[in-house]
Amino acid sequence: MTILQLAQENGVEMEGACEGNMACSTCHVIVEKRFFPKLPTASEYEEDMLDLASGLRATSRLGCQIVLEKELDGMRLTLPKESRNMLGL
Ligand code: FES
Repeated sequence: MTILQLAQENGVEMEGACEGNMACSTCHVIVEKRFFPKLPTASEYEEDMLDLASGLRATSRLGCQIVLEKELDGMRLTLPKESRNMLGL
């Protein structure tokens, strides 16, 4: 399960317009600093999408690309104030 799926199943306002296909950046999340190094390195394509996201931070990731793992237990995420839908929807 990804952060996007978890958010959507629990009523958290995260659009996920492209349904996890790294084409919209509406699942942009800011990861708590101490957990950021525990995440797998973002792919070049994810980095490219993040460059287009609104409110980008050093610990930004796409929620659709973060798979829940035991070592992420307790991780806090912040949603940016706004999101930018690169699909134009
Ligand atoms: S859901 Fe579109 S980039 Fe993650």
